[in-house]
Parts: sequence; C-alpha cells; structure tokens
Amino acid sequence: RRQFLKSVGLGTGVLAISPWLTSCVSFTDSVSVGKFINKLPLPGEINNTSFELTASPADIELSDDITLAGFQFNGSVPGPTIRQTKGSEVDIQFNNGIGQDSIIHWHGLIVPPEMDGHPKDVIAIGSYDYRFSLNQRTGTYWYHPHPHRITGEQVYRGLAGFFIIEDEEEKALNLPRGKYELPLLIQDRKVNDNGQVVYDPSMPERMMTGFLGDTILVNGVPAPFHEVEAGTYRLRILNGSNARIYNLAFEHDLPFTVIGTDGGLLPEAIETDELLMAPGERADLLVDFSKVKNQNRVQLVSKPFDVPGGGGMMGGMQNMMGSDAPEQGGGFSLMEFRIDGASSSKSVDLPNKLSESTFPKEADANRSRPIRLAMEMMTGHTINGRQFEMERVDERVPQGDTEIWEFINNSNVPHPMHVHAVQFKVLDRSGARGLIPTETGWKDTVLVMPGETVRVIMKFDAEKGMYVFHCHNLEHEDNGMMANLEII
Ligand code: C2O
Ligand code: CU
Ligand code: CU
Repeated sequence: RRQFLKSVGLGTGVLAISPWLTSCVSFTDSVSVGKFINKLPLPGEINNTSFELTASPADIELSDDITLAGFQFNGSVPGPTIRQTKGSEVDIQFNNGIGQDSIIHWHGLIVPPEMDGHPKDVIAIGSYDYRFSLNQRTGTYWYHPHPHRITGEQVYRGLAGFFIIEDEEEKALNLPRGKYELPLLIQDRKVNDNGQVVYDPSMPERMMTGFLGDTILVNGVPAPFHEVEAGTYRLRILNGSNARIYNLAFEHDLPFTVIGTDGGLLPEAIETDELLMAPGERADLLVDFSKVKNQNRVQLVSKPFDVPGGGGMMGGMQNMMGSDAPEQGGGFSLMEFRIDGASSSKSVDLPNKLSESTFPKEADANRSRPIRLAMEMMTGHTINGRQFEMERVDERVPQGDTEIWEFINNSNVPHPMHVHAVQFKVLDRSGARGLIPTETGWKDTVLVMPGETVRVIMKFDAEKGMYVFHCHNLEHEDNGMMANLEII
C-alpha cells in the first residue's frame, strides 16, 4: 500500500499498473441489499414567492445509527423543495449562519449575474438578497452553495434542495401529481465505524476520482423504502452526489419512461431500462409499478457500467487504500419500492409530443470553442490548461451569440461539465456511447467520459456579466476545474 502511494506521489504512469489493480479489486456490495429499513422522507415545500433560506449547522440523525455533523437549510436535510410557477418573480433572503463563506447558486436557472451565486459574491455571515424572475421552461432545477474550494464540503454536509418550476401547460398533460410525484435526491456518503458521516477529500486518489462514499442516501436517509400503489409515478431524480455517477435501473428489468431532463420535458418520451446520471444532472421519469409481476417490491439500483480509460481503476485505487466504497462504475442498490397490489392509481396517457423546443442549429453558430479538460499530477484539474482564478476572465461571449463548445476529455476520469446562464443541446459525442435519452432535451450538465469529445450548442441570452462554468464533480471544481465566463 505504501509502495502504491509513493508511485502516485511521483506521478509514475498509473495506467501501466491498471491491469494488476483491477484484477485484485473485487467489488462487494456494501449497500445493504434487502435491508431497506428507513421510510423515505419527502422534503417540505415552499410555494410562496417571498421567503428566507437560512443555512445553519446542526447534528443530524440520518438514521438510527448514522449521524451527520452537518448544515441544513431551514432546519432540514435536504433543503425544502421550492415549487414555483413559471413567470413569477421570487424574492429570497439567504441567511448564512454556518460559519463559513457561502453563497447560493440556482442550478439550471437563468438569472442575472449578481443573482447567480458566483463564488466572488460569497458572504461570511449575514444575508444576501436574491430577486429574479422565472422566465424559463418548466423543469426540475436545484439549489446549492457555490463558494470556491468548499462547495464540495457544504453540499456534502447537507446544503442542497430541489427548485421546481411548473405551469398550466404542463399541468394539462396530466402527469402524476401529489403523492404520485416523488422528488428523489441521490447522494453517496462515507460513514466511519462510529456511524459518523465523514468527508476527507485530501487524499491524492480522492482528488483524482472525487469523493466516493460507501452509503447511498435518498432524500437524506440511508437504505430507504417507499410504499407505492400499483400504478404510474413520476420520479424527479437529482444526482446531487459530489462525484458518483449512477446507471439507474429497476430490478426485474422493469422498464421506465424518460420524460424530462435538466431543462424540462423532452420533445418526446423515451422508454428505456437504464439511464446514466452524472453529478448535477436531473431526470424526470415515469414508472408503472403495476408492470412488476409476481413481486411486491422492486429496487432502484445502479447497474455496473464501464468507465473508459481507467476511471474505474482510480476507484479501484481508492479501494486499495482502505475505502470500502464501491468503485466508480460498480453496481449496488439505492432504495426499495413496496407495491401495494390492492390499490391502483390510474395509468397515464402520454401525448406523442411532450413539449415544444426550438433548439439552436449548428448553421447558426457564431463560433466553436474547444474546452480541454485535463488532470496532471503537478497542475491538478484544469480547463484549457488553467485552474480557476477569481478575477481572470477565461471566455468572453457576446450576448445573443450562439456557440458550439467542444468538451475534450484528455484525462482518465469522467467530467460532468456544467455551464451557468444557459441551457444547451448536446450535438454529438465521439466514440461508441452516443447520446442517451436525457440528452435529447435541454441540458445544463453533460457527462464527458475519458477520451470523449462532446459538442454542445447554446445561445447566450442571459444578462451581461460574470458567470462560471465548471466540472460538477465537486472535488474537481473545488480543486480548480472551473472558469469564468463573461457575457459581453
Ligand atoms: Cu450546480 Cu455551478 O453548479
Ligand atoms: Cu449551475
Ligand atoms: Cu471533473
């Protein structure tokens, strides 16, 4: 083990030892299968347009045997679900009582620069007033802190929540509502022998992979179950993990329908039986539990998936160093749905067209920008060879321009790339993977696997000023994999 550490420190070719490593790492399912014992909590909702979000420290019991020395919004982990109507103007007072610099970012919302939670706007204590209009598509967005270098820690310790925008047009689709609509925030945490949630991203291997946990939380609790009727449910899923990617699927090959993603409903629904979700991404799904035959329960799982170029090896390395967290790409269970066969909610007739979208066209692009993603032992995680600096402007885009950004992953770990102030359309991805169902809609975060080049197209219509774009692996982001984007 010491030998291994040393070779990392010296920057020896880690790829060369990968066959040896993968052969000695055997993945064991550390997420207790068949032991779903905690009732799934559903965060409370905020429906007013004027409200406060107060962040404060708290010792939180996530379950009987797991505690978190954490932070909470308005006394809850996850934070309350903010549910608003398209077109309304919100007025939010953020009160920072956690004893660290912080600022809130509204992930996926297109708001003026001073409302966007740029890391330069952090406050150490006191309040920050937000006021902005929700002039964008209905959809599943979210909020979380955005201070430079400590975003990972603050999200990990509990600061994150849903921000849902809806309108009459969407309601007219008669998608499942009320108790048939479940927001599910998925996160992984590392729990020590004393049952305490711990965060220590400083080990070099964790800097590379990001911080991978051994315990999956859904809506803040480990090993959750939820009782459902034998009918159709709408699951609004957010991968709010710092670094872990999930390949979501149900047991018994239960298919499901993807209806939406980061920027709202897809043009058309797509049926599938697995869906890759990277940190920051959202998926809006319909699942019909009456299709589960001869069983009264079904688990939501993450199926094993391939991380090209050695990302899995990095996870394996974490295992070598005494962590029992599943490697990136390993399989495990997340939660269990218990089906009450006696009752049945009505089934859902989906229209052929779910939503209207006019995506920007390649022919209308003013320019194309290469965005090179790399990781070197000496420089850490970089974008176009540089690490984040608060005052340096990295990309200047004229307001109203349409641009193609080419995310080129030259490293051997995955990078979910997120751009503030826009929703984009994924044009294509090099290699065999192609586009997945969520990538047929509006996106603000896209997974770029090692060796891949992913091209996205977007129109910069937000207000002029300074925003950021970054990798949404929060350890990568905190380690400098972020850049300033100025709309001029
Ligand atoms: Cu969800 Cu800039 O982040
Ligand atoms: Cu964002
Ligand atoms: Cu990254």
